[in-house]
Formats: sequence, C-alpha cells, structure tokens
Amino acid sequence: MAEVLTKPIPVKTQGASADRPGAGKPMISSMRIARRVRQLGRQISETYADIETPLVIVVILKGATVFAADLLRSLSIPAELEFVRASSYHGGTTSSGRLQLAHMVDGTLVGRHVLLVEDIVDSGLTVNVIAKRIKRLGPASLRIAALLDRPARRVVEVKIDFCGFVIPDRFVIGYGLDYAGLYRELPHIYSLT
Ligand code: PRP
Repeated sequence: MAEVLTKPIPVKTQGASADRPGAGKPMISSMRIARRVRQLGRQISETYADIETPLVIVVILKGATVFAADLLRSLSIPAELEFVRASSYHGGTTSSGRLQLAHMVDGTLVGRHVLLVEDIVDSGLTVNVIAKRIKRLGPASLRIAALLDRPARRVVEVKIDFCGFVIPDRFVIGYGLDYAGLYRELPHIYSLT
C-alpha cells in the first residue's frame, strides 16, 4: 500500500477509518476477483473449445488491461491479443460526446472469433460503438466479456456474454479502473462513496 500514500488526490473509500484508496474495505477483494476471473476463463475456454483458429482477445484501453491480462492467463485455449482505444476528445480539449476509435486492432479479424474485453459496462456506449466497428470487419463471431456491469447507468442495450460482477450505482476504482488516471494499480476494487 505504500505507493498509495503518495497519491495527490484525497478520496474516501467505503470503510469506517479509510481516508485513501487501499486503506478501506474493498467492494470486491483481489481474492474474489481472482476466483471469478478463473471461472470466466474456464467458461470462455469451454465456449470456444472447438474453434479452429486462436481466439482473438480485443482489449479496450486502458481500464480493461489488468482484467484482460489475468483473463488471458486463465484460458486453456490458444488466444491472440489486440487493443482498441476509444476517444470522445476528437483533437480538442473537451469531450464532443461522440465516441470515435483512436486506435483499431492491427491484425485482420475476417473469419476470426473475437472476444471484446471491457473492465466495466456503464452507459454501454463504449462497448456498443466498438462492437459495431468490429462487426464491420467480418469476424466469425463476436462476444463481450466485462468484469463489471453497472446497469443503473445504461443508455444502450448491451449483451454481456461473460460477466464478472453486477455492481450498484457507485463509482469504483482499482484493478485497472481509475479516478483521474490514478489507482489502476490497486489489487482490490473500491467504491468511492
Ligand atoms: C471507462 C471504462 C469503459 C467505459 C465504460 O473507460 O474503462 O471503457 O468507461 O463506460 P460506458 O459504458 O459508459 O461507455 P474510460 O473512458 O474512463 O477510459 P479508460 O478505460 O482509459 O479509463
């Protein structure tokens, strides 16, 4: 936890005496996350057991990187790794409210089985836009894995094929999820309330 002490932004976590992330009671502990990720890995491996080419894991930067790294290592089937980056800041300093892809996958997805990996589905806009773009690239199949589902804020309908945890309408950090770019390194997930 020592690295957290130097963080400049004071925030509260749930838990009586907590005054910084990493000190309070986690919403989801690293052990619980690890257990659930292993389950998801088994489920995904079974789903794709019979495909003839390696599964293509498409990670949505940046938040999903930690989850994706663990999920990848929990698979018992061959998999390749690709990244996409969504942006709503089209060259300016303020969000346009419209999502564009700042980076798309490097390899071809034609005829490939694709698993889109997200840390959290909130409004659903990010994963919805990226899924639409991937579908245009001609994959054999496209499914979505999300560690967290926060349905209270949903704007567009999203079918999450592999979901870790459904959480209440709280702002969460840790295990890849950030607040102002910070706290992604925390092993547990905390609620900032
Ligand atoms: C977060 C999160 C998801 C997205 C979910 O990304 O990682 O990608 O928001 O929200 P939505 O369902 O309402 O679209 P963010 O834009 O904060 O970027 P980051 O992943 O780099 O932190």
